[in-house]
Amino acid sequence: MNDVSERHPFIVFEGTDGSGKTTLANAVAQALPERGLTPIARRQVATASPFAAGLMEHMATMLWHSGDATDLSDGFWAHLQAAWFTAHGEQVVAPALAKRPVILDGWHYKLVSALLGQGWSREETDHLFARVRQPDHVVLLRVDPETLWERRSGRLRPTEMGMHAAGGDAELGKASFLAYQQASLDRLSELAERHHWTVLDVPGDESAADTTQRAAAIVDALLDGRSRPAGTGPAYAWPHVDASLRGAVDRQLDRSLSDRDGSGVIGEFEQAFAEFVGARHAVAFSSGTAALHAMCVAGGLRAGDEVIAPAYTFFATATPFAYEGVKVVFADADDLGNLDAAALPGLVTERTKAVIVTHMWGNPCDMTAIGRFCHERGLLLLEDCSHAHFAEWDGRRVGTFGAMAVFSTNQKAITTGEGGVLVTDDDRYRELALLHGHYNKRCFKEIDPTRAYYPYALTGMGLKSRATTLGAAIGLDQLGKAKDIEARRRAVLAAYTDALSGNPVLSPVLVDPAHGRHGLYVAGLRYHPEAATVPIQEFADRLTRAGADFDVPGSTGIIADEPLFHRAARTDPWDTPPHAPTTTGFPGASAFIGSFLKTPLWGFPGDHAAVEHHLDTLLRTCAQVAR
Ligand SMILES: Cc1ncc(COP(=O)(O)O)c(C=O)c1O
Repeated sequence: MNDVSERHPFIVFEGTDGSGKTTLANAVAQALPERGLTPIARRQVATASPFAAGLMEHMATMLWHSGDATDLSDGFWAHLQAAWFTAHGEQVVAPALAKRPVILDGWHYKLVSALLGQGWSREETDHLFARVRQPDHVVLLRVDPETLWERRSGRLRPTEMGMHAAGGDAELGKASFLAYQQASLDRLSELAERHHWTVLDVPGDESAADTTQRAAAIVDALLDGRSRPAGTGPAYAWPHVDASLRGAVDRQLDRSLSDRDGSGVIGEFEQAFAEFVGARHAVAFSSGTAALHAMCVAGGLRAGDEVIAPAYTFFATATPFAYEGVKVVFADADDLGNLDAAALPGLVTERTKAVIVTHMWGNPCDMTAIGRFCHERGLLLLEDCSHAHFAEWDGRRVGTFGAMAVFSTNQKAITTGEGGVLVTDDDRYRELALLHGHYNKRCFKEIDPTRAYYPYALTGMGLKSRATTLGAAIGLDQLGKAKDIEARRRAVLAAYTDALSGNPVLSPVLVDPAHGRHGLYVAGLRYHPEAATVPIQEFADRLTRAGADFDVPGSTGIIADEPLFHRAARTDPWDTPPHAPTTTGFPGASAFIGSFLKTPLWGFPGDHAAVEHHLDTLLRTCAQVAR
């Protein structure tokens, strides 16, 4: 079960012996009362149970060769320690994370560093600690060994003097301490570089209050999803890589890296995706583009046929049709940037076989008008729902209006990293989609042998474009969190809508709520240049300079004049002069593009301050440019 509470951030302060992790973790938790950070001591299990405490003491003694001899090797105790960290992560940290963000005074990394110092390889330590719960953020406290010596001398245990590192006969003292500390710090710094941790250098003469203040600012930023202090640049990242996502990938690594049929994670993901959309079937592909290609072929479109597609969309809505030699006829956009239903009658010919729509930036198209038009003319209705995972039209999820629909899952509201999913209620379309990219074993198993196309089960139609199992594992984890993702993104969208109410410079681009619900890919905003003193690009640049993530989309524009749609030859078309584009301009699409901006909808724990920063920056910039 993935509920929202499982996704509170897990932060670790790491550092060498005596660097002040515990004191600082507690001080930072106190300095940020509104964050509700729970400081957990790394040794909580040991102190909670006298038996465990005794066992830990012996284990530490034996691990560091400082006590009774045992015939068990260091490796044995290292494995036991790794198991202890795994247990601590699952039994102490995880339940705490269900309630609040957690801050820990050190995790397994110091042990990793010690083992590396003993000659273990990175691969061995990675393997040893593979099941330990991974923090979302690690902050390395770097304190100069000389400073530590001054701070701590006289109160040092032999282990802290480097008794193990210095070798049996070496004299323990300042020299052994400094050598031991420096080696440990170097190895932790290497880990910091390798894992992109935040590093906090603590100078010897800095007051504890100042260190706490600096550390609290770092933790505050990390909890906001910012790796940099506010105001230095956008920091939207998706998906949020938390322990459940890492766990899903980790478990899948042990399970399978490639599924040849639907019996493993691919089938589980497809079933969950079909349920999510409300369709009977889902077929997972390596990309949305590959799924769109399968949709074109499964729909029976071929050279000489025509498909009506939006002039304004991401190009991959239409390029697979062009690849197959289908003529793409472009329709202008309405004021949401969607295919304008009113344009359809003027574009249809006797060769028109299908209409494909894109629910642009999350707003559903007018599926009543477009659906009626296709139904009356006997045209295949296809949907590109890549921007609209959570969209509805008249109470029905998009993706269920057409004969087939495709959802890209590349960095979209539900993501598999890279990928795409075709959904349909129709058994035949499902089988044809399988044939197009999932050939051989899966087709033999899942295609009805009485079908005319069954003899193609071995070879498929010549291409392979299966999804990866790791992507499917990520997608399943995402679908498990879909309710939380939707709730948070709707709340952020509502915050933009409320904040912009009555604003003369900017208004949200939103479907009429009487008919539709937004799909939550991005928040779309319309700029009103007549109410402002600067053009839209300057407005967007000012937002970017203020550290907010708003942009005028680049690669999504009017695609109708792209040479791919007008090529005279299917292969090497650049050797043949292209036909002149037949388009006459798309005033609806041009007007939409000229006034459109977008911004992320965020949707992960700790995004509140980032959202507030974006809203503040937006309102301030609007006020600055307003006429
Ligand atoms: C509307 C639309 N359709 C199709 C695609 C192609 O999907 P993919 O990048 O997964 O191939 C995208 C990708 O961004 C898209 O935005």
